[in-house]
Amino acid sequence: MKAMIFDQPGDPDVLHAADLPTPEPGPGQIRVRVDAVALNRLDLWIRAGQMGRRPIPMPHILGSDVCGQVDALGHGVRGPTVGTHVIVAPGFGCGHCPHCAAGRDSMCPQYQLLGFQVQGGYAQFVVADARNVIPISDNLTPTQWAAVPLDFLTAWHMIVTRAALQPGEDVLVQAAGSGVGSAAIQIARFAGAGRVITTASTAGKLGRGRQLGADVTVNYAEHPDFAKQVLDATGGKGVEVIVDHVGAGTWEQCLACLATGGRLVTCGATGGGDVSFNIQKLYFRQHQIIGSMMGTRSELDRVLDLLAAGRLTPVVDRTFPLEQAPAAHRHMLSRAQFGKIVLKVS
Ligand SMILES: NC(=O)c1ccc[n+]([C@@H]2O[C@H](COP(=O)([O-])OP(=O)(O)OC[C@H]3O[C@@H](n4cnc5c(N)ncnc54)[C@H](OP(=O)(O)O)[C@@H]3O)[C@@H](O)[C@H]2O)c1
Ligand SMILES: [Zn+2]
Repeated sequence: MKAMIFDQPGDPDVLHAADLPTPEPGPGQIRVRVDAVALNRLDLWIRAGQMGRRPIPMPHILGSDVCGQVDALGHGVRGPTVGTHVIVAPGFGCGHCPHCAAGRDSMCPQYQLLGFQVQGGYAQFVVADARNVIPISDNLTPTQWAAVPLDFLTAWHMIVTRAALQPGEDVLVQAAGSGVGSAAIQIARFAGAGRVITTASTAGKLGRGRQLGADVTVNYAEHPDFAKQVLDATGGKGVEVIVDHVGAGTWEQCLACLATGGRLVTCGATGGGDVSFNIQKLYFRQHQIIGSMMGTRSELDRVLDLLAAGRLTPVVDRTFPLEQAPAAHRHMLSRAQFGKIVLKVS
């Protein structure tokens, strides 16, 4: 099969086309013919060798967000039938540890991501355990479905599960144009938020943020002290929930506009992971800082149902042919995208 692989970490041009043996599905597995695979920021870091010492299979095939068709069933697998349109769950636990047994998949010590610890979807075929291959409806294109799994799951877990957003609470979503942000604006709106406030670095992205459901937008490139705008928009109260994934660069301003009793939920550190905060302010304001990682299978099923019903909408920035994966990575690095960048596989 054709795949875009890298043999050594480095800049986007380490990604190159290769002919690899088509993977065979083992017992209990399914081979999926990939139609489309979306990029995630994670791909940039894995490709650049910035994910620490965690071992990855080499040469490596990136790609956590796969949409395709069932191509072959391994021994013991009864369905879905060949040709069924599916996505692959982007993350999966071991299935039998205490966390997995309790449905907390992403707390599993063996939790793995497609395209990270196992070979992913920058290829014509990918193999996955049958339990992670999920039939999808035909109301969206393969490109749109590929734009869904990882970020909608993450944003749902952050807002609904970890922050436990209550109806009427105000929410601040950082970076409207990010994969996480473009999903989070919609999920906050769906979950009954009061005001949804979002940030971005350009007027164009802020306009798109409003189309997705944001009531108030703040250009944090022009206003790095965006807490003031958020406080003004909420009558001085601040927001009850903040969805952050930038870290350094937004952290202190986030805490400055978090309402008393508010929850700052973070899943990322695109701008850097080292931040500082004041413990006295933390307890005096009764703030909660909450970490969030991917989500559970039942949450994924829930967001897929909402996408199928048209209650949530995938946000696709643009597509590239699989062979142009280096250009797609450069496009993400340029910070110009709004929503997901998707590779189409022929
Ligand atoms: N823990 C989890 O389960 C999980 C899951 C998904 C993602 N994440 C993390 O969440 C973050 C966002 O991921 P994503 O895939 O949504 O990213 P993305 O689509 O590439 O979006 C990143 C956006 O962040 C904004 N940004 C702010 N400061 C930035 C900086 N210093 N450098 C680059 N961009 C900056 C940019 O928008 P503006 O130009 O408008 O500022 C940029 O477009 C990443 O850190 C990722 O690893 C974590
Ligand atoms: Zn487990």
